[in-house]
Amino acid sequence: MKLPILVYPDRRLKEQSHPVDNFDASLHKLLDDMNETMIANNGIGLAAIQVGVPLRALLINLPDEEGNQYPENLIEAINPVIIEKRGCTTYTEGCLSVPEYYDDVERAEWIRVEFFTREGERKEIEADGLLAIAFQHEIDHLDGHLFIEKLSFLRRKKFEKEWKKKLKESRQP
Ligand code: CO
Repeated sequence: MKLPILVYPDRRLKEQSHPVDNFDASLHKLLDDMNETMIANNGIGLAAIQVGVPLRALLINLPDEEGNQYPENLIEAINPVIIEKRGCTTYTEGCLSVPEYYDDVERAEWIRVEFFTREGERKEIEADGLLAIAFQHEIDHLDGHLFIEKLSFLRRKKFEKEWKKKLKESRQP
């Protein structure tokens, strides 16, 4: 089932998500619904809080060069933790909760991340490139943070101005 995505400045996006304790059917249903929602919105990542569920669960599915997403590339990460990080890189990020806004954000270039699968199996992977960026972006959601919080003061001011204007326009008949 496709779910509605919370959009900034919805306060729920600032919530701290709770660890998942039960790797049961309701978690599986949530992950399936999140995947349907992410694909329908052409997203490459989605955190549970973006559909209003404050649980530490996220999805990432990086497209290939042609922009196609394949089910076999889907990563489901439950209770993810970054246990090591190195370097620094800049990438132009976007977010389904901040639609149509993109800006440069600095993050670690390489990470080692621990997480659990939907069955509760522990995994540990090393990531760089877009995968490392996506993990950091989505884990930030679980702690109530959005990528726009990482912008410089002036960029943030510019964003808020543009966003206000956009919201006002979208409210007009
Ligand atoms: Co996001």
